[in-house]
Amino acid sequence: MNNKHFTAYYFLTILNSERKLILCPKHWYYTTKNVAQVIANKLDADIAELHAKHPYTSADLDWHDPQSRISIEQHQHNSRVEINDDLPDISNYNNVIIGHPIWWGIPPCLITTAIDKLDLNGKNLTSFATSGGSGYKRSQANIERTLRKNNYNVTITQGAVLNNQHQIETWVKTLNFR
Ligand SMILES: Cc1cc2nc3c(=O)[nH]c(=O)nc-3n(C[C@H](O)[C@H](O)[C@H](O)COP(=O)(O)O)c2cc1C
Repeated sequence: MNNKHFTAYYFLTILNSERKLILCPKHWYYTTKNVAQVIANKLDADIAELHAKHPYTSADLDWHDPQSRISIEQHQHNSRVEINDDLPDISNYNNVIIGHPIWWGIPPCLITTAIDKLDLNGKNLTSFATSGGSGYKRSQANIERTLRKNNYNVTITQGAVLNNQHQIETWVKTLNFR
């Protein structure tokens, strides 16, 4: 691995195995991936997707139901979601970008599990989200707390909510990855 030169980035984003069945709002499960693809094109980056071991159904993702899987997971402090064992090998990447939707103000618990499982030592790390309007402050704090718990030696660049092209352009300019 050459530490002096930019190599590539990884995007970690979530796709739902049932996305075609979800009717409303229709953009669910595409938004974050679409933004990741725009950024990947700009940075000549690779994209990896994260998958839950037990994929979410539309009923699991019903935020109006306090008993839905997602309601329970997201509201439990320190909650983790079992992840598929197809995590990407990031050993040859200096720079890692984690992309996620915002769920109840924070990243999905699957992201927390991924941070636990990936060896992020020595990486430049940043993250972005798409959201319905929430800002990035709580997500940033959530990710940084998980990084601290894992004692990772990472260089963090501030993440952002990227809901439009202008926000993407502005944020990409803040990245100073090697
Ligand atoms: C369970 C759930 C919780 C959500 N919570 C929030 C929230 O707290 N704040 C917000 O602005 N948007 C929230 N949203 C909206 C998503 O963040 C937004 O639609 C995002 O762009 C979805 O990305 P995706 O299409 O990649 O899944 C929530 C969506 C879901 C499904």
